[in-house]
Amino acid sequence: MTRALVGTAALRLESVTKTYGSGESAVTALREVSIGLDRGTFTAVMGPSGSGKSTFLHCAAGLDQPTSGSVRLGDVELSGMKEAALTAVRRERVGFVFQAYNLMSALTVEENVALVPRLSGRDLDRAWLRELLDRVGMLDRADRRPSQLSGGQQQRVAIARALVNRPEVVMADEPTGALDTRTGRQVLDLFRRLVVDLGQTVLMVTHDPVAASYADSVVFLADGRIAGQLHHPTAAQVSDRMTHLGEA
Ligand SMILES: Nc1ncnc2c1ncn2[C@@H]1O[C@H](COP(=O)(O)OP(=O)(O)O)[C@@H](O)[C@H]1O
Ligand SMILES: [Mg+2]
Repeated sequence: MTRALVGTAALRLESVTKTYGSGESAVTALREVSIGLDRGTFTAVMGPSGSGKSTFLHCAAGLDQPTSGSVRLGDVELSGMKEAALTAVRRERVGFVFQAYNLMSALTVEENVALVPRLSGRDLDRAWLRELLDRVGMLDRADRRPSQLSGGQQQRVAIARALVNRPEVVMADEPTGALDTRTGRQVLDLFRRLVVDLGQTVLMVTHDPVAASYADSVVFLADGRIAGQLHHPTAAQVSDRMTHLGEA
Protein backbone atom coordinates (compact mmCIF):
# COMPACT_ATOMS: atom_id res chain seq x y z
CA MET A 1 0.00 0.00 0.00
CA THR A 2 1.56 3.25 -1.13
CA ARG A 3 0.30 5.10 1.94
CA ALA A 4 2.85 3.24 4.07
CA LEU A 5 5.50 5.40 2.42
CA VAL A 6 3.92 8.65 3.57
CA GLY A 7 6.27 10.26 6.03
CA THR A 8 9.39 9.71 3.96
CA ALA A 9 10.32 12.91 2.20
CA ALA A 10 10.15 12.73 -1.59
CA LEU A 11 11.82 16.14 -1.75
CA ARG A 12 13.66 18.22 0.82
CA LEU A 13 15.13 21.69 0.44
CA GLU A 14 17.38 23.00 3.23
CA SER A 15 18.28 26.70 3.34
CA VAL A 16 18.16 27.06 -0.43
CA THR A 17 19.30 30.45 -1.66
CA LYS A 18 19.49 31.35 -5.33
CA THR A 19 21.12 34.53 -6.60
CA TYR A 20 21.19 35.35 -10.29
CA GLY A 21 24.05 37.51 -11.56
CA SER A 22 26.56 39.29 -9.36
CA GLY A 23 27.52 42.72 -8.07
CA GLU A 24 25.06 45.54 -8.62
CA SER A 25 22.84 43.54 -10.94
CA ALA A 26 22.51 40.55 -8.57
CA VAL A 27 18.95 39.35 -7.92
CA THR A 28 18.24 36.99 -5.05
CA ALA A 29 15.25 34.94 -6.17
CA LEU A 30 15.17 32.50 -3.20
CA ARG A 31 16.29 33.23 0.36
CA GLU A 32 16.99 30.39 2.81
CA VAL A 33 14.03 28.30 1.70
CA SER A 34 13.55 25.08 3.71
CA ILE A 35 10.70 22.65 3.09
CA GLY A 36 10.01 18.93 2.86
CA LEU A 37 7.36 17.19 0.78
CA ASP A 38 6.08 13.87 2.10
CA ARG A 39 5.65 11.05 -0.39
CA GLY A 40 2.18 10.79 -1.84
CA THR A 41 1.20 14.40 -1.19
CA PHE A 42 0.02 17.18 -3.50
CA THR A 43 1.57 20.59 -2.81
CA ALA A 44 0.76 23.86 -4.55
CA VAL A 45 3.14 26.84 -4.63
CA MET A 46 1.62 30.30 -4.90
CA GLY A 47 2.94 33.82 -4.79
CA PRO A 48 2.97 37.08 -6.71
CA SER A 49 4.82 37.38 -10.01
CA GLY A 50 8.57 37.51 -9.30
CA SER A 51 8.25 35.88 -5.86
CA GLY A 52 10.49 32.96 -6.88
CA LYS A 53 7.98 30.23 -7.78
CA SER A 54 9.69 29.12 -11.00
CA THR A 55 13.13 29.36 -9.41
CA PHE A 56 11.89 27.17 -6.56
CA LEU A 57 10.58 24.56 -9.00
CA HIS A 58 13.75 24.69 -11.11
CA CYS A 59 16.02 24.24 -8.07
CA ALA A 60 13.82 21.41 -6.75
CA ALA A 61 13.96 19.64 -10.12
CA GLY A 62 17.69 20.01 -10.72
CA LEU A 63 17.06 22.32 -13.68
CA ASP A 64 18.95 25.05 -11.86
CA GLN A 65 21.65 24.91 -9.14
CA PRO A 66 21.10 26.80 -5.88
CA THR A 67 23.78 29.30 -4.90
CA SER A 68 23.79 27.67 -1.46
CA GLY A 69 21.80 25.11 0.47
CA SER A 70 20.84 21.54 -0.28
CA VAL A 71 18.21 19.79 -2.38
CA ARG A 72 17.46 16.09 -1.85
CA LEU A 73 15.22 14.22 -4.24
CA GLY A 74 14.33 10.97 -2.48
CA ASP A 75 17.70 9.68 -1.30
CA VAL A 76 19.73 11.63 -3.87
CA GLU A 77 21.54 14.85 -2.94
CA LEU A 78 21.55 17.19 -5.94
CA SER A 79 23.87 19.91 -4.66
CA GLY A 80 27.33 19.64 -6.10
CA MET A 81 26.27 17.31 -8.93
CA LYS A 82 27.72 17.86 -12.36
CA GLU A 83 25.37 18.77 -15.21
CA ALA A 84 25.52 15.28 -16.80
CA ALA A 85 24.48 13.65 -13.52
CA LEU A 86 21.71 16.21 -13.03
CA THR A 87 20.38 15.48 -16.51
CA ALA A 88 20.17 11.79 -15.60
CA VAL A 89 18.42 12.60 -12.30
CA ARG A 90 15.85 14.77 -14.09
CA ARG A 91 15.17 12.05 -16.60
CA GLU A 92 14.88 9.26 -14.03
CA ARG A 93 13.34 10.93 -10.99
CA VAL A 94 11.33 13.93 -12.11
CA GLY A 95 8.24 14.19 -14.30
CA PHE A 96 7.53 17.59 -15.83
CA VAL A 97 4.19 19.07 -16.86
CA PHE A 98 4.13 22.59 -18.28
CA GLN A 99 1.49 25.02 -19.43
CA ALA A 100 2.45 24.14 -23.02
CA TYR A 101 2.02 20.42 -23.62
CA ASN A 102 5.24 20.04 -25.66
CA LEU A 103 4.21 16.81 -27.36
CA MET A 104 6.06 15.62 -30.47
CA SER A 105 3.69 16.31 -33.35
CA ALA A 106 5.03 13.52 -35.58
CA LEU A 107 4.46 10.86 -32.90
CA THR A 108 1.25 9.20 -31.74
CA VAL A 109 -0.04 9.49 -28.18
CA GLU A 110 1.46 6.13 -27.27
CA GLU A 111 4.79 6.92 -28.96
CA ASN A 112 5.02 10.25 -27.12
CA VAL A 113 4.73 8.50 -23.77
CA ALA A 114 6.98 5.59 -24.78
CA LEU A 115 9.71 8.02 -25.81
CA VAL A 116 10.61 8.84 -22.20
CA PRO A 117 11.77 5.36 -21.08
CA ARG A 118 13.44 4.98 -24.48
CA LEU A 119 15.51 8.13 -23.88
CA SER A 120 16.57 6.77 -20.47
CA GLY A 121 17.62 3.49 -22.06
CA ARG A 122 14.95 1.54 -20.17
CA ASP A 123 12.90 -1.37 -21.40
CA LEU A 124 9.37 -0.25 -22.11
CA ASP A 125 6.87 -1.59 -19.56
CA ARG A 126 3.96 -1.85 -21.96
CA ALA A 127 1.43 -2.87 -19.29
CA TRP A 128 2.31 0.25 -17.23
CA LEU A 129 2.17 2.45 -20.32
CA ARG A 130 -1.32 1.18 -21.13
CA GLU A 131 -2.46 1.51 -17.52
CA LEU A 132 -1.33 5.14 -17.54
CA LEU A 133 -3.07 5.88 -20.83
CA ASP A 134 -6.19 4.32 -19.36
CA ARG A 135 -5.89 6.37 -16.15
CA VAL A 136 -5.64 9.62 -18.09
CA GLY A 137 -8.54 8.55 -20.32
CA MET A 138 -6.51 8.33 -23.52
CA LEU A 139 -6.23 4.59 -24.13
CA ASP A 140 -8.85 4.69 -26.89
CA ARG A 141 -6.89 7.48 -28.58
CA ALA A 142 -3.43 5.91 -28.29
CA ASP A 143 -2.91 6.00 -32.06
CA ARG A 144 -3.94 9.64 -32.55
CA ARG A 145 -1.47 12.45 -33.15
CA PRO A 146 -1.42 15.59 -30.96
CA SER A 147 -3.01 17.74 -33.71
CA GLN A 148 -6.10 15.49 -33.51
CA LEU A 149 -6.55 16.17 -29.79
CA SER A 150 -8.03 18.99 -27.71
CA GLY A 151 -5.83 20.96 -25.32
CA GLY A 152 -7.14 19.05 -22.30
CA GLN A 153 -6.47 15.73 -24.02
CA GLN A 154 -2.92 16.81 -24.93
CA GLN A 155 -2.29 17.81 -21.32
CA ARG A 156 -3.52 14.41 -20.14
CA VAL A 157 -1.02 12.75 -22.50
CA ALA A 158 1.69 15.04 -21.09
CA ILE A 159 0.71 13.85 -17.59
CA ALA A 160 0.98 10.18 -18.63
CA ARG A 161 4.39 11.01 -20.11
CA ALA A 162 5.46 12.67 -16.83
CA LEU A 163 4.52 9.51 -14.88
CA VAL A 164 5.87 6.78 -17.14
CA ASN A 165 9.31 6.60 -15.48
CA ARG A 166 7.68 6.41 -12.02
CA PRO A 167 9.30 9.68 -10.89
CA GLU A 168 9.94 10.65 -7.30
CA VAL A 169 8.08 13.93 -7.91
CA VAL A 170 5.89 15.30 -10.69
CA MET A 171 6.58 19.02 -11.08
CA ALA A 172 3.90 21.07 -12.80
CA ASP A 173 4.28 24.76 -13.70
CA GLU A 174 0.82 26.31 -14.33
CA PRO A 175 -0.51 23.04 -15.83
CA THR A 176 -4.00 24.46 -16.29
CA GLY A 177 -2.84 27.88 -17.53
CA ALA A 178 -3.83 27.23 -21.15
CA LEU A 179 -7.07 25.35 -20.45
CA ASP A 180 -10.65 26.51 -20.04
CA THR A 181 -12.10 26.26 -16.54
CA ARG A 182 -13.90 22.94 -16.95
CA THR A 183 -11.00 21.19 -18.67
CA GLY A 184 -8.61 22.63 -16.11
CA ARG A 185 -10.69 21.13 -13.30
CA GLN A 186 -10.53 17.72 -15.00
CA VAL A 187 -6.73 17.93 -15.09
CA LEU A 188 -6.65 18.89 -11.39
CA ASP A 189 -8.98 15.98 -10.54
CA LEU A 190 -6.60 13.73 -12.43
CA PHE A 191 -3.60 14.96 -10.38
CA ARG A 192 -5.58 14.30 -7.19
CA ARG A 193 -6.41 10.75 -8.26
CA LEU A 194 -2.76 10.06 -9.14
CA VAL A 195 -1.78 11.19 -5.66
CA VAL A 196 -4.49 9.14 -3.92
CA ASP A 197 -4.41 6.01 -6.12
CA LEU A 198 -0.71 5.75 -6.99
CA GLY A 199 0.88 7.59 -4.07
CA GLN A 200 2.48 9.97 -6.56
CA THR A 201 4.07 13.12 -5.11
CA VAL A 202 3.03 16.27 -7.01
CA LEU A 203 4.41 19.80 -6.76
CA MET A 204 2.44 22.41 -8.71
CA VAL A 205 3.03 26.12 -9.29
CA THR A 206 -0.18 28.02 -9.92
CA HIS A 207 -1.63 31.50 -9.58
CA ASP A 208 -5.20 30.14 -9.43
CA PRO A 209 -6.67 29.77 -5.89
CA VAL A 210 -9.16 27.17 -7.13
CA ALA A 211 -6.34 25.07 -8.60
CA ALA A 212 -4.40 25.41 -5.33
CA SER A 213 -7.44 24.20 -3.37
CA TYR A 214 -7.07 20.76 -5.00
CA ALA A 215 -3.71 20.33 -3.21
CA ASP A 216 -3.15 18.87 0.27
CA SER A 217 -1.23 21.97 1.19
CA VAL A 218 -0.37 25.35 -0.27
CA VAL A 219 2.99 27.04 0.24
CA PHE A 220 3.11 30.81 -0.22
CA LEU A 221 6.21 32.58 -1.51
CA ALA A 222 6.80 36.30 -1.18
CA ASP A 223 10.06 37.98 -2.16
CA GLY A 224 11.89 34.65 -2.30
CA ARG A 225 10.87 33.48 1.18
CA ILE A 226 8.24 31.06 2.40
CA ALA A 227 5.55 33.37 3.73
CA GLY A 228 3.15 30.76 5.05
CA GLN A 229 1.47 27.44 4.42
CA LEU A 230 -2.16 26.28 4.49
CA HIS A 231 -3.33 22.67 4.85
CA HIS A 232 -6.45 21.49 3.02
CA PRO A 233 -7.49 25.08 2.25
CA THR A 234 -10.56 26.25 0.42
CA ALA A 235 -10.14 28.50 -2.62
CA ALA A 236 -11.52 31.39 -0.55
CA GLN A 237 -8.88 30.88 2.14
CA VAL A 238 -6.14 30.79 -0.51
CA SER A 239 -7.47 33.99 -2.14
CA ASP A 240 -7.61 35.71 1.20
CA ARG A 241 -4.01 34.76 2.04
CA MET A 242 -2.82 35.90 -1.40
CA THR A 243 -4.50 39.28 -0.92
CA HIS A 244 -2.67 39.80 2.37
CA LEU A 245 0.75 38.49 1.25
CA GLY A 246 3.43 41.09 1.60
CA GLU A 247 1.57 42.95 4.31
CA ALA A 248 3.62 43.17 7.47
N1 LIG B 1 17.67 33.62 -15.26
C1 LIG B 1 17.48 34.72 -14.50
N2 LIG B 1 18.37 35.70 -14.49
C2 LIG B 1 18.20 36.79 -13.71
N3 LIG B 1 17.15 36.98 -12.90
C3 LIG B 1 16.21 36.02 -12.86
C4 LIG B 1 16.33 34.84 -13.66
N4 LIG B 1 15.23 34.05 -13.42
C5 LIG B 1 14.50 34.72 -12.50
N5 LIG B 1 15.08 35.89 -12.18
C6 LIG B 1 14.56 36.87 -11.19
O1 LIG B 1 14.32 36.18 -9.96
C7 LIG B 1 13.11 36.63 -9.37
C8 LIG B 1 12.15 35.45 -9.20
O2 LIG B 1 11.76 34.99 -10.50
P1 LIG B 1 10.82 33.73 -10.73
O3 LIG B 1 11.36 32.58 -9.98
O4 LIG B 1 10.64 33.56 -12.21
O5 LIG B 1 9.46 34.21 -10.06
P2 LIG B 1 7.93 33.75 -10.35
O6 LIG B 1 7.97 32.44 -11.04
O7 LIG B 1 7.31 33.70 -8.99
O8 LIG B 1 7.32 34.83 -11.18
C9 LIG B 1 12.58 37.74 -10.24
O9 LIG B 1 13.04 38.96 -9.73
C10 LIG B 1 13.21 37.45 -11.59
O10 LIG B 1 13.36 38.61 -12.33
MG1 LIG C 1 7.26 31.84 -12.92
